[in-house]
Amino acid sequence: MGKKILLTGGLGYIGSHTAVELIQEGYDPIILDNLANSRPEVLQQIERITQQKISFFQGDVRDAKILQTIFSTNSIEGVIHFAALKSVGESVQQPLKYFDVNVGGLTQLLQVMQDSQVDKLVFSSSCTVYGQPTEGWAVSETTPLQEPMSPYGRTKRMNEDMIRDVCQTGHLSAVILRYFNPVGAHPSGLIGELPIGVPANLVPFLTQAVAGIRGPLTVFGNDYPTPDGTCIRDYIHVVDLAKAHVGALSFQTQRLIPEVFNVGTGKGSSVLEVISAFERATGMVVPLQMGSKRPGDVMAVFANAQKIQEKLKWEPVYSLDDMMAHAWNWQKNQG
Ligand code: UD1
Repeated sequence: MGKKILLTGGLGYIGSHTAVELIQEGYDPIILDNLANSRPEVLQQIERITQQKISFFQGDVRDAKILQTIFSTNSIEGVIHFAALKSVGESVQQPLKYFDVNVGGLTQLLQVMQDSQVDKLVFSSSCTVYGQPTEGWAVSETTPLQEPMSPYGRTKRMNEDMIRDVCQTGHLSAVILRYFNPVGAHPSGLIGELPIGVPANLVPFLTQAVAGIRGPLTVFGNDYPTPDGTCIRDYIHVVDLAKAHVGALSFQTQRLIPEVFNVGTGKGSSVLEVISAFERATGMVVPLQMGSKRPGDVMAVFANAQKIQEKLKWEPVYSLDDMMAHAWNWQKNQG
């Protein structure tokens, strides 16, 4: 058996893909998930892809008891902390819920890790901490961070600060991954994004619109000062993102400071380019309408991904067309 890695939120979209990659690299993931935004069947799907049994604990990362049980009965080498809430809109309506889960959850986890002398953490942060960059649309890890645009963004910023402070004590060695826009699904079609209710994110809404589950996709604004008037993001295949976690686990951080990596392809794509890629990759037509800007949306941002390419020897392998083909393959399997 390989090294044991605890994945909080390991049945979620990014966690489940990371569990698969970890097993394929010889690790032994242990999953903790409270099923707040995931389904228990995902566990069997991960087992089906990897042909391996996985230890699963149903529970909440804010629950010290379950964390203590996991740490005392397993010799855990490191933790990848995915468990968190991620809806920007909901966070504006219910900020306290976001502070409770995202800030409270990390606090509890770090406490139990410290008590159990587990010092390796990989943390899911977000490009949201950059806000709308003021000097160019590409951001590197040293680009100054902006005031968060939502309570969700604030919790990610606070989480990064908490990790920085705890690293200073010498009891934690952490890698912070700032994800850009993860999309797509596992090429097997067995795991993918499972949004509960109406999806807020572009690609799950798009695939559901094409499948006839939703009305037409609304493009949120087409008069931005970008080449085609629509917002620009750095879309990254979820399997490429998952592989970055495997690299992050074995990265030796400097003493007393967390290492931060952007995880993006380094390429910006507009909303209309995503739609064209989908139509090209699948042969389907996307029903769409132009709409007004979504409040709080950043106009354009993409990663300068040089640091992760150099230090983790990580390169994304999937194209935007692959992301769309896999997202559609997954959607079709949903029945
Ligand atoms: C945002 C954050 C990201 C965070 C994520 C959590 C930024 C830059 N990004 O992603 O860090 O982790 O929320 O959910 O702060 N769009 C449409 N129609 C739709 C849906 C989306 O046109 O129905 C457009 C949006 O305007 C945007 C793009 O598609 O330009 C991507 O939107 P979405 O998938 O919601 O992700 P972000 O808002 O970029």
